[in-house]
Amino acid sequence: MPQAQRAPARVALLGTGTVGRAVLERLTAWSGSSQGGRLSLVYAANSRHALGGRFGLLPEGVADLLQHEGQPSRLSAVELALQGGHGPRIVVDATASEEVALNHARWLSQGIHVVTACKLGQGTSLERWRAIHAACAEGNTRYGDSATVGAGLPLIRSIRELRAGGDRIHAIAGVLSGSLAWLFNHYDGLRPFSGFVREAREAGYTEPDPRDDLSGEDVRRKIVILARAAGVELEPGDVDVASLVPAELARLAKADVDAALPSLDQPLRDRFADAYKNGGKLRFIARLEHGKARVGLESLPADHPLAGGAGTDNRVAIWSDRYSRQPLVIQGPGAGAEVTAAGLLDDVLRICG
Ligand SMILES: NC(=O)c1ccc[n+]([C@@H]2O[C@H](COP(=O)([O-])OP(=O)(O)OC[C@H]3O[C@@H](n4cnc5c(N)ncnc54)[C@H](OP(=O)(O)O)[C@@H]3O)[C@@H](O)[C@H]2O)c1
Repeated sequence: MPQAQRAPARVALLGTGTVGRAVLERLTAWSGSSQGGRLSLVYAANSRHALGGRFGLLPEGVADLLQHEGQPSRLSAVELALQGGHGPRIVVDATASEEVALNHARWLSQGIHVVTACKLGQGTSLERWRAIHAACAEGNTRYGDSATVGAGLPLIRSIRELRAGGDRIHAIAGVLSGSLAWLFNHYDGLRPFSGFVREAREAGYTEPDPRDDLSGEDVRRKIVILARAAGVELEPGDVDVASLVPAELARLAKADVDAALPSLDQPLRDRFADAYKNGGKLRFIARLEHGKARVGLESLPADHPLAGGAGTDNRVAIWSDRYSRQPLVIQGPGAGAEVTAAGLLDDVLRICG
């Protein structure tokens, strides 16, 4: 059937923060285009306000309307808002909400597709991950997860396509955090590491509390998602994570963290000096090898495939049957609202068919 004849998908957007706003901007830019005609935004919400529009909302006005005319936000309203029409029903999760992630399996089992940037659905317990997959089978629905790792870079998709083509995945290694990529692309061992952390935070590359990045916990979730896509069903606790946050810094209240950041300086200076002596470069690497995963700082030869890249680039090497000597290497911006929103909406369009 030509695309113009398909009923448009009904879409509910959850989250109007950095990524959600970029989704709205992309939808606005699609107005009058073939992509725009394939879907209708019928619901938008943040944690406070929600707005429904049976015949579709104009994406450019949503943020303002939510503020001034929104109803109290309730996740139980999502199903009702998506009712009607003959096209697919899709929830786009642009939150970091555990409560929203807990609803993924329920929506999927009810015939509502889920597209998500949030790692709390697939990157936490195996029990939750298995429930999501069982719910897709039950509801004949799809789970769009391209934006959960690498902000929409074709990472998860390439792993799945290699396996669908009969390859076994032998190993995966990569720089999976945009903020840690930026930090170690810039750290020169001369100026204090804490200064680079503050600069990265001010530029919006790190979380407001940089310990969330430096602890490696975000990378733990990402390697768990990639491992499961590769057929290795790990629990998050199976991943050996070497945090960069010293124990005393980890214990501090959020308000005291900034003043204590210099406690990072000496340990990082020592690591840098060791790497430098051997011509190496420090990179924060996640690895999956022989069914085991680990995350931490490594010194790599300067010409190593994972030592390059610029800015917040992610860079991932995948070894498989066909790429057994030279890995497939995928590199590109692995953070940022625009690429993440594009990754989300690519998944939405794939579901629209
Ligand atoms: N930023 C990036 O570059 C990037 C890249 C890849 C993936 N991601 C992922 O994308 C997600 C969103 O990131 P972000 O940077 O956009 O975060 P953000 O700016 O903090 O926005 C989060 C949004 O979620 C809303 N929210 C929270 N609980 C909700 C609920 N129960 N119902 C509806 N909305 C709810 C918040 O509402 P309020 O406005 O009321 O607080 C806020 O609008 C995260 O999971 C993040 O890990 C982000």
